[in-house]
Amino acid sequence: MNLVRLIYASRFCESKFDTKELSRINHSSQKNNKISELTGILVFGDDFFLQCLEGDREEVSKTYHRISQDPRHESVVILSMEDAIRREFSEWDMKCVILTEANNNLIREFSTTSKFNPHKMHHKNSLELMKALRK
Ligand SMILES: Cc1cc2nc3c(=O)[nH]c(=O)nc-3n(C[C@H](O)[C@H](O)[C@H](O)COP(=O)(O)O)c2cc1C
Repeated sequence: MNLVRLIYASRFCESKFDTKELSRINHSSQKNNKISELTGILVFGDDFFLQCLEGDREEVSKTYHRISQDPRHESVVILSMEDAIRREFSEWDMKCVILTEANNNLIREFSTTSKFNPHKMHHKNSLELMKALRK
């Protein structure tokens, strides 16, 4: 397996955030990623998504292309895609995290903006943030 890690950021499309929509996304992610042997984390906050997908290069590419066409989000931007030595999220088909005020210190630690805006984050900081959220 050519293990790779892809990180992208996007913006939620609907006018109002709906936790049901997030659980639908979570449900299909867990189902499909298990089959494709993908692992990762999906972070939602302030209308932005930040997601990390790890696994075989072809499977990560295929899944990313499907996700990027999903009308539930827009401004889908790849922050990085790199070969990886090991998985950082090996315990999760897709861990879903909704940011709350309790995460504000973490956001400040890894961002240059006070509000969560992954489009403006360095990819290394975005990975460190996701690692801090995996507990
Ligand atoms: C922000 C976001 C993250 C997503 N992450 C995944 C994912 O990790 N894996 C996946 O299979 N689908 C993911 N999806 C859903 C896909 O875009 C697509 O709807 C789904 O894979 C279709 O498969 P299904 O018909 O089996 O539900 C995501 C969608 C959004 C909006």
